[in-house]
Amino acid sequence: MEKLEQLYEGKAKKVFKTDDPEVLLVDYKDDATAFNGLKKGTIRGKGAINNRVTNFMMQMLEKEGVPTHFIKELSDRETLVKKVTIVPLEVIIRNVSAGSFSKRYGVEEGIVFKKPTIEFSYKNDDLGDPLLNDDHALALGIATEEEIATIKAMAFKVNDVMKAFFKSVGVDLIDFKLEFGKTSDGTIVLADEISPDTCRFWDSKTHEKLDKDRFRRDLGNVEDAYAEMMKRIFGE
Ligand code: TMP
Ligand code: ASP
Repeated sequence: MEKLEQLYEGKAKKVFKTDDPEVLLVDYKDDATAFNGLKKGTIRGKGAINNRVTNFMMQMLEKEGVPTHFIKELSDRETLVKKVTIVPLEVIIRNVSAGSFSKRYGVEEGIVFKKPTIEFSYKNDDLGDPLLNDDHALALGIATEEEIATIKAMAFKVNDVMKAFFKSVGVDLIDFKLEFGKTSDGTIVLADEISPDTCRFWDSKTHEKLDKDRFRRDLGNVEDAYAEMMKRIFGE
């Protein structure tokens, strides 16, 4: 498969065309941003870690019956994925209060929910990714009722699989963000990435943060946290 011209450069990844019109190549960067790009930095080694962690999770989820865009890991930072049209929703699942949930509702971080919550943001940087509900998504023509139901069911399934896996390596899955895409035949698949950039991971015993909050909140030891997650997942 040949790497052809760059289609798009996002905040954490570049996307290239390949000689197959149905296949794209994703190239993960070490660049990190937060607060809609206001805070910028570099997390050394992050691109390679997020590539491997994402691909590991996508393959585990495929085995558990969740369709994904994953095709093949090509190198440290490069992966082939199915070309999809991204549904412009950030789908956030929460098991424990943290981040914007705690801020919005004025509650401490660390409250364990009886059951997970789901919320959608409209993926639009100019508007600051505003929250929206199912009816708003329908009204805006972002997704159909059936697609929203599929996305919700898939997101909760992803949560079940990931929560159990991370528990087995001593990590609590606090919350995470997913994105979904539509293939050319209209099938909804899990897309984008699943990594310490897009999940909150707390050590089960010490509650130490092992994710991008270390960068967002200037907590230090950012690279160490990403390396620790690699160790937990791959034993290296
Ligand atoms: P939040 O508490 O800031 O809303 O974040 C919820 C989860 O979503 C957290 O695991 C981080 C992830 N996230 C992203 O992946 N991208 C984003 O742009 C934001 C705001 C959050
Ligand atoms: N990556 C997002 C941004 O730059 C935010 C985040 O992950 O906190 O805005």
